[in-house]
Amino acid sequence: TTNHLRHVESMATMPSGAGNIPHLNAIVLGEALACEENDLIFPSDDFSRQAHVPSPLKYLEMYKRSIEDPAGFWSDIASSFYWKQKWDQQVYLENLDVRKGDIRIEWFKGGITNICYNCLDSNVEAGLGDKIAFYWEGNEPGVDATLTYIQLLHNVCQLANYLKDIGVKKGDAVVVYLPMLMELPITMLACARIGAVHSVVFAGFSAESLAQRIVDCKPKVVITCNAVKRGSKVIHLKDIVDAALIESSQSGVSIDVCLTYENQLAMKKESTKWKEERDVWWQDVIPKYPTTCAVEWVDAEDPLFLLYTSGSTGKPKGVVHTTGGYMVYTATTFKYAFDYKPSDIYWCTADCGWITGHSYVTYGPLLNGASAVIFEGAPNYPNPGRCWDIVDKYQVTIFYTAPTLVRSLMRDSDEYVMRYSRKSLRVLGSVGEPINPSAWRWFFNLVGDSKCPISDTWWQTETGGFMITPLPGAWPQKPGSATFPFFGVQAVIVDEKGVEIEGECSGYLCIKSSWPGAFRTLYGDHERYETTYFKPFPGYYFSGDGCSRDKDGYHWLTGRVDDVINVSGHRIGTAEVESALVSHPQCAEAAVVGVEHEVKGQGIYAFVTLVEGVPYSEELRKGLILNVRKQIGAFAAPDKVHWAPGLPKTRSGKIMRRILRKIASRQLDELGDTSTLADPSVVDQLIALADV
Ligand code: PRX
Repeated sequence: TTNHLRHVESMATMPSGAGNIPHLNAIVLGEALACEENDLIFPSDDFSRQAHVPSPLKYLEMYKRSIEDPAGFWSDIASSFYWKQKWDQQVYLENLDVRKGDIRIEWFKGGITNICYNCLDSNVEAGLGDKIAFYWEGNEPGVDATLTYIQLLHNVCQLANYLKDIGVKKGDAVVVYLPMLMELPITMLACARIGAVHSVVFAGFSAESLAQRIVDCKPKVVITCNAVKRGSKVIHLKDIVDAALIESSQSGVSIDVCLTYENQLAMKKESTKWKEERDVWWQDVIPKYPTTCAVEWVDAEDPLFLLYTSGSTGKPKGVVHTTGGYMVYTATTFKYAFDYKPSDIYWCTADCGWITGHSYVTYGPLLNGASAVIFEGAPNYPNPGRCWDIVDKYQVTIFYTAPTLVRSLMRDSDEYVMRYSRKSLRVLGSVGEPINPSAWRWFFNLVGDSKCPISDTWWQTETGGFMITPLPGAWPQKPGSATFPFFGVQAVIVDEKGVEIEGECSGYLCIKSSWPGAFRTLYGDHERYETTYFKPFPGYYFSGDGCSRDKDGYHWLTGRVDDVINVSGHRIGTAEVESALVSHPQCAEAAVVGVEHEVKGQGIYAFVTLVEGVPYSEELRKGLILNVRKQIGAFAAPDKVHWAPGLPKTRSGKIMRRILRKIASRQLDELGDTSTLADPSVVDQLIALADV
């Protein structure tokens, strides 16, 4: 336990004054840690020695400065990026309090830069031109490709020139519907280079969802590919885009250009449906353009991208991130949370269609000059050993994934893991939902051979980057805890009244004061931004998550407290699923709740009331599920449809979801008080139909 003593000792010699910061009050108590020894997992001495942040002491010192002098802390970091012109005004400006007027957040305003330049040109100038930026691993083992920094820059410039040529200008939206081909980050970077705002839509969303997003942000162009293979399935993406474009034009938004990459391994050009006047083959035009392209210099507060995410109403929210603060924040969080070093090979399994792929496949790694793996396929294809095969093949050192993947691989024989060496691994990461301690231990003990710290990163589409995360060399870990806030993040837990609670407690997770990577607005709806995030607890950003803090100050995320569920790390609004269900002509009403699911974390459980006189049938159940697949995407399909002659409602007509959640999880003796229901007998009817 020399390690352990070292940590406790360093905590004891903490700089005075850190005790004024609430979450540090707990961690200064070295004694508390000592009692918990069995639950703590320490990084090895060797690991800590080489880490950017080698001890709690160092964390405390940096954290303290980041809170007491945010301007100084972040400008020092920002100075290592390329700015055409330094920010002239204050480093940041914020109002997070609705009572004091509009919510406004700005970082490095007046600074002129370009994130694509910082990702590519800066690295090439620094001599990394021949370093591999991306290792691409195709769906089929043995199919792969690479791009060095200079090659990536050339590819990005060609596409950027094309986009300019067809009239895409600074501030224009570009919708991207691509799978994990290198063309996806290439497209994001090309947009950034010319100041266009990319809006990547995960290629698992349905035509209707895609259309809805196109109608909302009215892009100049849509970029896609003809098809993709995932596992043994071929998915015809272009057909989905075609259907979406018909739908969006019916809503008055027509698209002149659909740039389509021919993904030959999945489908040939000749078999792709084509609309001559609109569709353009990527390979026909892009290679003809010059491989250099002048950068469009933008203000730090100019928008970089729009990414739609689910909220508690049916309409997805267009989360807007701007350039400067996001750049500084994603790069810094990447470096510290993964203890990134130039010799690392990094692999994040997330798709660029989600925020994790934006911040930690594309921007964070490239800003650090890292070599990253991009994987097109399914993690269990052709067998459940594929991930570890890839780890060995590329000698991956940092592996970042989601608990749902860990749990699904855990169900297969350990032999699939043990077959591979995995010796290169040194840091593991987890994101998307709380990681349960047993999955944590399997990941740690088996995959990481009990030597790789796990960075369990808590954050959100809205936060742009990590908010609560271990720093792998600094902290002893507790399986299942995201540990402590990142630099500059003042995480607080409040009660229902919005009063901060200290010490050991649980409540609503909020953030006091802004951080550089924070989203600035919801596209076209600043009022919704204020109402959803800043009004529930005035003076704070409200995350929508519950959280508890233990006596050592460690944070434990407990899941969403709003009507959002997290299925396999995919964020889904219950209202979206309900609206897809009720659009079925035979569905009168629907109520959707999340229910614990062994692999997915949460499953989707739908209570459905049919139109008077319509009988239940298997066919109808399938039809209802199909509606959800069509309107949102296959990943949102309900796991269970529970026939409901009626729903438990209060006398004022509000559905009591608390009761539905209990019925869904079969905690029938915990239904609580049902006497306030307009019709208490519906509860018995529902219970009777539970297994029909
Ligand atoms: O509930 C939290 C959960 O995912 C939500 C954010 O989802 P999304 O915006 O899609 O971003 C996912 C990737 C950052 C959060 O409100 N969540 C994310 N990471 C964790 C987590 N819950 C617990 N632990 C995590 N590490």
